[in-house]
Amino acid sequence: EKGGYPHFMLKEIFEQSRSIMDSMRGRLVAENTQLTMSSIREYATRFKNADRIIIVACGTSWHAGLVAEYMIEEFARIPVEVEYASEFRYRNPVIREGDIVVAISQSGETADTLAALELAKSKGAMIFGVCNVVGSSIARATDAGAYTHAGPEIGVASTKAFTAQVTVLSLIAMMIAEMRGTMELTALRSLMLEMEKIPAKVEQALQLDKEIQAISEIFKDATNFIYLGRGFNFPVALEGALKLKEISYIHAEGYPAAEMKHGPIALIDENMPVVVIATKDSSYEKIVSNVQEVRARKGRVIAVVTEGDTVIPQMAEFVIEVPNTHEALMPLISVIPLQLLSYHIAVLRGCNVDQPRNLAKSVTVE
Ligand code: M6R
Repeated sequence: EKGGYPHFMLKEIFEQSRSIMDSMRGRLVAENTQLTMSSIREYATRFKNADRIIIVACGTSWHAGLVAEYMIEEFARIPVEVEYASEFRYRNPVIREGDIVVAISQSGETADTLAALELAKSKGAMIFGVCNVVGSSIARATDAGAYTHAGPEIGVASTKAFTAQVTVLSLIAMMIAEMRGTMELTALRSLMLEMEKIPAKVEQALQLDKEIQAISEIFKDATNFIYLGRGFNFPVALEGALKLKEISYIHAEGYPAAEMKHGPIALIDENMPVVVIATKDSSYEKIVSNVQEVRARKGRVIAVVTEGDTVIPQMAEFVIEVPNTHEALMPLISVIPLQLLSYHIAVLRGCNVDQPRNLAKSVTVE
Protein backbone atom coordinates (compact mmCIF):
# COMPACT_ATOMS: atom_id res chain seq x y z
CA GLU A 1 0.00 0.00 0.00
CA LYS A 2 3.07 2.24 0.26
CA GLY A 3 3.49 1.72 -3.45
CA GLY A 4 7.08 0.52 -3.11
CA TYR A 5 8.15 3.45 -0.93
CA PRO A 6 9.61 2.79 2.55
CA HIS A 7 7.22 5.28 4.18
CA PHE A 8 3.85 6.85 3.45
CA MET A 9 5.42 10.27 3.81
CA LEU A 10 7.84 9.68 0.96
CA LYS A 11 5.09 8.20 -1.19
CA GLU A 12 2.92 11.24 -0.49
CA ILE A 13 5.76 13.65 -1.25
CA PHE A 14 6.27 11.93 -4.60
CA GLU A 15 2.55 11.97 -5.36
CA GLN A 16 2.43 15.75 -5.39
CA SER A 17 2.67 16.47 -9.05
CA ARG A 18 -0.29 14.15 -9.50
CA SER A 19 -2.26 15.42 -6.51
CA ILE A 20 -1.83 19.06 -7.55
CA MET A 21 -3.19 18.07 -10.95
CA ASP A 22 -6.16 16.41 -9.23
CA SER A 23 -6.78 19.59 -7.22
CA MET A 24 -6.96 21.61 -10.42
CA ARG A 25 -8.87 19.13 -12.53
CA GLY A 26 -12.07 20.54 -14.01
CA ARG A 27 -11.43 23.86 -12.29
CA LEU A 28 -8.89 25.53 -14.51
CA VAL A 29 -8.62 25.92 -18.27
CA ALA A 30 -5.97 28.56 -18.74
CA GLU A 31 -6.29 28.66 -22.52
CA ASN A 32 -9.77 30.11 -22.19
CA THR A 33 -8.97 32.01 -18.96
CA GLN A 34 -11.61 29.85 -17.39
CA LEU A 35 -12.05 29.04 -13.72
CA THR A 36 -14.83 26.78 -12.53
CA MET A 37 -15.60 26.44 -8.85
CA SER A 38 -19.31 26.11 -8.45
CA SER A 39 -19.29 26.90 -4.73
CA ILE A 40 -17.60 30.25 -5.36
CA ARG A 41 -19.98 31.06 -8.21
CA GLU A 42 -22.93 30.18 -6.03
CA TYR A 43 -21.80 32.71 -3.45
CA ALA A 44 -20.46 35.17 -6.02
CA THR A 45 -22.19 38.20 -4.47
CA ARG A 46 -20.84 37.37 -1.00
CA PHE A 47 -17.31 36.93 -2.30
CA LYS A 48 -17.46 39.99 -4.53
CA ASN A 49 -18.61 42.21 -1.69
CA ALA A 50 -16.79 40.60 1.21
CA ASP A 51 -15.42 43.17 3.66
CA ARG A 52 -12.90 40.75 4.99
CA ILE A 53 -11.86 37.13 4.79
CA ILE A 54 -10.84 35.42 8.01
CA ILE A 55 -8.96 32.17 7.62
CA VAL A 56 -8.96 29.74 10.54
CA ALA A 57 -6.76 26.66 10.67
CA CYS A 58 -4.03 24.85 12.63
CA GLY A 59 -0.51 23.67 11.84
CA THR A 60 0.33 23.11 8.21
CA SER A 61 -3.17 24.17 7.14
CA TRP A 62 -2.52 27.49 8.89
CA HIS A 63 0.62 27.87 6.79
CA ALA A 64 -1.43 27.29 3.64
CA GLY A 65 -3.74 29.99 4.98
CA LEU A 66 -0.83 32.43 5.19
CA VAL A 67 0.02 31.79 1.54
CA ALA A 68 -3.65 32.40 0.74
CA GLU A 69 -3.60 35.68 2.64
CA TYR A 70 -0.81 36.99 0.43
CA MET A 71 -2.54 35.74 -2.73
CA ILE A 72 -6.03 37.03 -1.94
CA GLU A 73 -4.77 40.44 -0.88
CA GLU A 74 -2.53 40.72 -3.93
CA PHE A 75 -4.99 39.50 -6.55
CA ALA A 76 -8.45 40.18 -5.14
CA ARG A 77 -7.70 43.16 -2.86
CA ILE A 78 -9.81 41.90 0.05
CA PRO A 79 -8.27 42.23 3.51
CA VAL A 80 -7.43 38.83 4.96
CA GLU A 81 -6.64 37.70 8.47
CA VAL A 82 -5.18 34.32 9.24
CA GLU A 83 -5.94 33.01 12.69
CA TYR A 84 -4.91 30.02 14.71
CA ALA A 85 -8.27 28.37 15.26
CA SER A 86 -7.44 27.76 18.92
CA GLU A 87 -6.79 31.44 19.60
CA PHE A 88 -9.67 32.73 17.52
CA ARG A 89 -12.29 30.71 19.31
CA TYR A 90 -11.26 31.69 22.81
CA ARG A 91 -10.76 35.43 22.39
CA ASN A 92 -14.15 36.92 21.57
CA PRO A 93 -13.20 37.91 18.03
CA VAL A 94 -14.99 40.63 16.06
CA ILE A 95 -16.97 38.91 13.33
CA ARG A 96 -19.32 40.88 11.11
CA GLU A 97 -21.93 39.83 8.62
CA GLY A 98 -19.88 40.88 5.61
CA ASP A 99 -17.04 38.60 6.71
CA ILE A 100 -16.34 35.28 5.12
CA VAL A 101 -14.65 32.71 7.30
CA VAL A 102 -12.56 30.12 5.50
CA ALA A 103 -11.72 26.99 7.48
CA ILE A 104 -8.80 24.98 6.11
CA SER A 105 -8.33 21.40 7.29
CA GLN A 106 -6.88 18.30 5.73
CA SER A 107 -8.73 15.89 8.01
CA GLY A 108 -11.82 18.01 8.48
CA GLU A 109 -11.82 16.74 12.07
CA THR A 110 -9.57 19.18 13.92
CA ALA A 111 -11.48 20.13 17.07
CA ASP A 112 -10.25 23.72 17.34
CA THR A 113 -10.95 24.49 13.68
CA LEU A 114 -14.42 23.03 13.95
CA ALA A 115 -15.17 25.02 17.10
CA ALA A 116 -13.82 28.23 15.50
CA LEU A 117 -16.12 27.91 12.53
CA GLU A 118 -19.12 27.11 14.73
CA LEU A 119 -18.40 30.30 16.65
CA ALA A 120 -18.17 32.35 13.44
CA LYS A 121 -21.36 30.75 12.18
CA SER A 122 -23.22 31.71 15.34
CA LYS A 123 -22.20 35.33 14.67
CA GLY A 124 -23.65 35.29 11.18
CA ALA A 125 -20.56 34.92 9.01
CA MET A 126 -20.63 32.79 5.91
CA ILE A 127 -18.39 29.74 6.31
CA PHE A 128 -16.39 28.27 3.47
CA GLY A 129 -14.41 25.05 3.89
CA VAL A 130 -11.24 23.83 2.23
CA CYS A 131 -11.00 20.20 3.34
CA ASN A 132 -9.40 17.07 2.01
CA VAL A 133 -11.55 14.39 3.62
CA VAL A 134 -14.91 14.21 1.90
CA GLY A 135 -17.89 14.27 4.26
CA SER A 136 -15.71 15.17 7.28
CA SER A 137 -17.15 17.13 10.22
CA ILE A 138 -15.76 20.48 9.06
CA ALA A 139 -16.90 19.90 5.48
CA ARG A 140 -20.39 19.20 6.77
CA ALA A 141 -20.49 22.22 9.06
CA THR A 142 -19.70 24.77 6.33
CA ASP A 143 -22.11 26.66 4.05
CA ALA A 144 -20.03 25.86 1.00
CA GLY A 145 -16.56 24.66 0.18
CA ALA A 146 -14.03 23.21 -2.19
CA TYR A 147 -12.38 19.86 -1.62
CA THR A 148 -8.66 19.63 -2.17
CA HIS A 149 -8.80 16.14 -3.76
CA ALA A 150 -5.28 15.22 -2.65
CA GLY A 151 -6.32 11.64 -1.87
CA PRO A 152 -5.81 10.01 1.54
CA GLU A 153 -2.83 11.34 3.47
CA ILE A 154 -1.56 8.74 5.93
CA GLY A 155 1.77 10.18 7.11
CA VAL A 156 1.27 12.37 10.17
CA ALA A 157 3.44 15.05 8.58
CA SER A 158 1.27 16.83 6.07
CA THR A 159 2.82 17.15 2.60
CA LYS A 160 0.54 16.63 -0.37
CA ALA A 161 -2.39 18.08 1.57
CA PHE A 162 -0.45 21.34 1.91
CA THR A 163 0.29 21.69 -1.79
CA ALA A 164 -3.31 20.76 -2.62
CA GLN A 165 -4.57 23.42 -0.21
CA VAL A 166 -2.31 26.06 -1.74
CA THR A 167 -3.47 25.00 -5.21
CA VAL A 168 -7.16 25.29 -4.39
CA LEU A 169 -6.66 28.54 -2.48
CA SER A 170 -4.79 30.03 -5.42
CA LEU A 171 -7.68 29.13 -7.73
CA ILE A 172 -10.07 30.73 -5.26
CA ALA A 173 -7.94 33.89 -5.13
CA MET A 174 -7.88 34.05 -8.93
CA MET A 175 -11.59 33.52 -9.17
CA ILE A 176 -12.42 36.26 -6.69
CA ALA A 177 -9.99 38.55 -8.52
CA GLU A 178 -11.78 37.81 -11.76
CA MET A 179 -15.20 38.52 -10.25
CA ARG A 180 -14.04 41.75 -8.66
CA GLY A 181 -12.08 42.87 -11.70
CA THR A 182 -9.00 43.50 -9.58
CA MET A 183 -6.58 41.87 -12.02
CA GLU A 184 -5.83 42.59 -15.67
CA LEU A 185 -7.08 39.72 -17.78
CA THR A 186 -3.70 39.21 -19.39
CA ALA A 187 -2.05 38.97 -15.97
CA LEU A 188 -4.72 36.58 -14.79
CA ARG A 189 -4.29 34.44 -17.87
CA SER A 190 -0.53 34.25 -17.52
CA LEU A 191 -0.92 33.29 -13.87
CA MET A 192 -3.31 30.53 -14.90
CA LEU A 193 -0.90 29.32 -17.56
CA GLU A 194 1.82 29.18 -14.90
CA MET A 195 -0.51 27.23 -12.62
CA GLU A 196 -0.97 24.61 -15.31
CA LYS A 197 2.79 24.14 -15.50
CA ILE A 198 3.18 23.56 -11.76
CA PRO A 199 2.78 19.74 -11.77
CA ALA A 200 5.67 19.36 -14.25
CA LYS A 201 7.82 21.72 -12.20
CA VAL A 202 7.03 19.84 -9.00
CA GLU A 203 8.11 16.67 -10.78
CA GLN A 204 11.38 18.41 -11.65
CA ALA A 205 11.87 19.53 -8.03
CA LEU A 206 11.36 15.93 -6.89
CA GLN A 207 14.41 14.93 -8.92
CA LEU A 208 16.45 16.76 -6.27
CA ASP A 209 15.88 13.86 -3.90
CA LYS A 210 19.39 12.35 -4.03
CA GLU A 211 21.04 15.73 -3.73
CA ILE A 212 18.96 16.54 -0.67
CA GLN A 213 19.69 13.15 0.84
CA ALA A 214 23.39 14.00 0.63
CA ILE A 215 22.85 17.35 2.37
CA SER A 216 20.79 15.57 5.02
CA GLU A 217 23.77 13.32 5.83
CA ILE A 218 25.81 16.39 6.66
CA PHE A 219 23.23 17.98 8.93
CA LYS A 220 21.58 14.97 10.53
CA ASP A 221 23.19 15.57 13.92
CA ALA A 222 22.35 19.25 14.15
CA THR A 223 20.42 20.26 17.24
CA ASN A 224 18.91 23.44 15.81
CA PHE A 225 17.86 24.82 12.45
CA ILE A 226 16.66 28.21 11.27
CA TYR A 227 14.45 28.60 8.20
CA LEU A 228 14.14 31.99 6.54
CA GLY A 229 11.92 33.26 3.75
CA ARG A 230 10.21 36.47 2.68
CA GLY A 231 6.95 37.26 0.94
CA PHE A 232 5.27 34.19 -0.47
CA ASN A 233 8.15 32.08 0.81
CA PHE A 234 7.76 33.18 4.42
CA PRO A 235 5.02 30.62 5.12
CA VAL A 236 7.24 28.04 3.41
CA ALA A 237 9.96 28.78 5.97
CA LEU A 238 7.45 28.12 8.76
CA GLU A 239 6.32 24.94 7.07
CA GLY A 240 9.89 23.69 6.54
CA ALA A 241 10.65 24.23 10.22
CA LEU A 242 7.45 22.49 11.34
CA LYS A 243 8.19 19.46 9.14
CA LEU A 244 11.67 19.13 10.62
CA LYS A 245 10.50 19.51 14.22
CA GLU A 246 7.70 17.03 14.03
CA ILE A 247 9.47 14.13 12.41
CA SER A 248 13.16 14.53 13.31
CA TYR A 249 12.74 16.14 16.76
CA ILE A 250 15.34 18.77 15.87
CA HIS A 251 14.47 22.19 17.20
CA ALA A 252 13.75 24.49 14.27
CA GLU A 253 12.54 28.06 13.92
CA GLY A 254 10.89 29.51 10.86
CA TYR A 255 11.21 33.27 10.55
CA PRO A 256 10.53 36.06 8.10
CA ALA A 257 14.08 36.74 6.88
CA ALA A 258 14.04 40.45 7.71
CA GLU A 259 12.74 39.82 11.22
CA MET A 260 15.83 37.76 12.00
CA LYS A 261 17.81 40.85 12.95
CA HIS A 262 15.29 41.57 15.71
CA GLY A 263 16.38 38.58 17.75
CA PRO A 264 17.16 35.20 16.22
CA ILE A 265 20.34 36.52 14.60
CA ALA A 266 21.87 36.10 18.06
CA LEU A 267 21.56 32.34 17.61
CA ILE A 268 23.74 32.23 14.53
CA ASP A 269 27.22 30.81 14.79
CA GLU A 270 29.33 28.30 12.87
CA ASN A 271 27.13 25.44 14.07
CA MET A 272 23.80 26.84 12.96
CA PRO A 273 22.28 25.48 9.76
CA VAL A 274 20.16 28.19 8.12
CA VAL A 275 17.83 27.17 5.33
CA VAL A 276 17.07 30.22 3.21
CA ILE A 277 14.36 30.15 0.58
CA ALA A 278 15.78 32.70 -1.81
CA THR A 279 14.06 32.26 -5.14
CA LYS A 280 14.00 35.10 -7.67
CA ASP A 281 11.01 37.22 -6.76
CA SER A 282 10.26 40.77 -5.70
CA SER A 283 12.16 40.29 -2.41
CA TYR A 284 15.21 38.69 -3.99
CA GLU A 285 17.60 41.63 -3.50
CA LYS A 286 16.56 41.86 0.12
CA ILE A 287 17.07 38.21 0.81
CA VAL A 288 20.56 38.39 -0.72
CA SER A 289 21.43 40.81 2.10
CA ASN A 290 19.89 38.46 4.64
CA VAL A 291 22.12 35.65 3.36
CA GLN A 292 25.10 37.98 3.76
CA GLU A 293 24.08 38.70 7.34
CA VAL A 294 24.03 34.98 8.08
CA ARG A 295 27.35 34.35 6.33
CA ALA A 296 28.99 37.23 8.24
CA ARG A 297 28.17 35.31 11.43
CA LYS A 298 29.45 32.04 9.95
CA GLY A 299 26.03 30.40 9.76
CA ARG A 300 25.87 27.39 7.44
CA VAL A 301 23.58 28.44 4.61
CA ILE A 302 21.52 25.94 2.67
CA ALA A 303 19.81 28.01 0.00
CA VAL A 304 16.83 27.13 -2.17
CA VAL A 305 17.31 29.22 -5.31
CA THR A 306 15.84 29.65 -8.76
CA GLU A 307 17.72 27.66 -11.38
CA GLY A 308 20.32 29.76 -13.11
CA ASP A 309 20.89 32.05 -10.12
CA THR A 310 24.55 33.06 -10.01
CA VAL A 311 24.63 35.34 -6.96
CA ILE A 312 23.45 33.24 -4.02
CA PRO A 313 25.44 30.14 -5.09
CA GLN A 314 28.60 32.15 -4.41
CA MET A 315 27.47 32.91 -0.88
CA ALA A 316 25.78 29.71 0.28
CA GLU A 317 27.49 26.50 1.36
CA PHE A 318 24.80 24.34 -0.24
CA VAL A 319 22.50 25.28 -3.06
CA ILE A 320 19.28 23.62 -4.14
CA GLU A 321 18.02 24.80 -7.53
CA VAL A 322 14.30 24.76 -8.27
CA PRO A 323 12.46 25.72 -11.46
CA ASN A 324 11.10 29.24 -11.76
CA THR A 325 7.43 30.22 -11.66
CA HIS A 326 5.18 33.16 -10.73
CA GLU A 327 6.18 34.27 -7.24
CA ALA A 328 2.74 33.57 -5.81
CA LEU A 329 2.94 29.95 -6.92
CA MET A 330 6.52 29.40 -5.76
CA PRO A 331 5.46 27.86 -2.41
CA LEU A 332 4.18 24.87 -4.37
CA ILE A 333 7.71 24.26 -5.61
CA SER A 334 9.97 25.64 -2.88
CA VAL A 335 8.31 23.50 -0.20
CA ILE A 336 9.29 20.26 -1.98
CA PRO A 337 13.02 20.29 -1.09
CA LEU A 338 12.14 21.18 2.51
CA GLN A 339 9.79 18.22 2.79
CA LEU A 340 12.52 15.97 1.42
CA LEU A 341 15.13 17.45 3.75
CA SER A 342 13.04 16.77 6.83
CA TYR A 343 12.19 13.30 5.59
CA HIS A 344 15.80 12.25 4.99
CA ILE A 345 17.09 13.77 8.21
CA ALA A 346 14.39 11.95 10.18
CA VAL A 347 15.17 8.64 8.47
CA LEU A 348 18.89 9.07 9.11
CA ARG A 349 18.17 9.72 12.77
CA GLY A 350 16.13 6.55 12.97
CA CYS A 351 12.87 8.33 13.71
CA ASN A 352 9.42 6.94 13.08
CA VAL A 353 8.65 9.16 10.12
CA ASP A 354 5.03 8.22 9.55
CA GLN A 355 4.03 8.21 13.20
CA PRO A 356 6.17 10.64 15.13
CA ARG A 357 6.04 10.55 18.91
CA ASN A 358 3.34 12.53 20.71
CA LEU A 359 1.44 13.31 17.51
CA ALA A 360 -1.78 12.08 15.94
CA LYS A 361 -2.93 12.51 12.38
CA SER A 362 -5.90 14.54 13.39
CA VAL A 363 -6.11 16.44 16.62
CA THR A 364 -9.67 15.91 17.78
CA VAL A 365 -9.04 17.22 21.30
CA GLU A 366 -8.91 20.89 22.24
O1 M6R B 1 -6.31 18.05 9.54
P1 M6R B 1 -5.85 19.46 9.73
O2 M6R B 1 -5.39 20.10 8.47
O3 M6R B 1 -6.93 20.32 10.37
O4 M6R B 1 -4.68 19.40 10.73
C1 M6R B 1 -4.05 20.55 11.22
C2 M6R B 1 -2.75 20.21 11.93
O5 M6R B 1 -2.98 19.39 13.04
C3 M6R B 1 -1.75 19.54 11.00
O6 M6R B 1 -1.50 20.30 9.85
C4 M6R B 1 -0.42 19.27 11.72
O7 M6R B 1 0.22 20.47 12.01
C5 M6R B 1 0.45 18.35 10.84
N1 M6R B 1 0.96 17.26 11.62
C6 M6R B 1 1.57 19.08 10.18
O8 M6R B 1 2.37 18.26 9.41
